[in-house]
Amino acid sequence: MEIKQFRYGDTNLAYLIYSGGEAAAIDGGAPEEILDFIKTQNLRLKYVLNTHEHHDHTPGNERLLKINSVEFIAPAGLVKMKQFHLGDESVEVFATPGHTEDSIVFKHSGWLITGDTLFNGTVGNCYSGDYETYFNSLEKVLSFPPGTKIFAGHDIVDYSLGVAKKIDPENQFLSLYRSKYDKNLVVSTLEMELKVNPFIRFNDSKLDAYRSGLKMSLDTPYLRWRAMMSVH
Ligand SMILES: [Fe+2]
Repeated sequence: MEIKQFRYGDTNLAYLIYSGGEAAAIDGGAPEEILDFIKTQNLRLKYVLNTHEHHDHTPGNERLLKINSVEFIAPAGLVKMKQFHLGDESVEVFATPGHTEDSIVFKHSGWLITGDTLFNGTVGNCYSGDYETYFNSLEKVLSFPPGTKIFAGHDIVDYSLGVAKKIDPENQFLSLYRSKYDKNLVVSTLEMELKVNPFIRFNDSKLDAYRSGLKMSLDTPYLRWRAMMSVH
């Protein structure tokens, strides 16, 4: 399975994943570039998909759905299907409610497309209002191997590292993380996220001193996360 990233809008990231000549656009908000790429690679666009239905993730749908025999499957439909096929390969889909109720993550061996559930350096806003559910979704995302690549729905790395530095100024991994940043391919790994992203480091004692300053209960991983989300 190949994965190609496209930029659009201020910070949005679109993806085309493909195998055996078949492709799926995920949050395909750069439709003309995606269609050019499909043409040069001689691919057939099979699916138009989204990580969730926020408007900044769906602006390419209408254009891409003009292509012959393309199928649109909404996030809820993908969760029911659990997986879909491109060529001989399958991509798994699992529900990660929290940022929105319909948020999903796409998984293939070695990578996740996380939409606004997990960013490179931070997490999304909890627009659903259900923090416990969002926490459970993040735990699911974090259960994959450390080397798993994280392809997110926005490039907000600069902003995120600024926040992370305020929270954890002595963190030596922040400069390493920044040195690996490439505007042309924005990606990190779970391992790096667990070293720099303060909003998933709820089991990292290095943040205990900062968290205790928040004057909130810190007795469980969820409560430590919830406390940190008060400064998100
Ligand atoms: Fe969103």
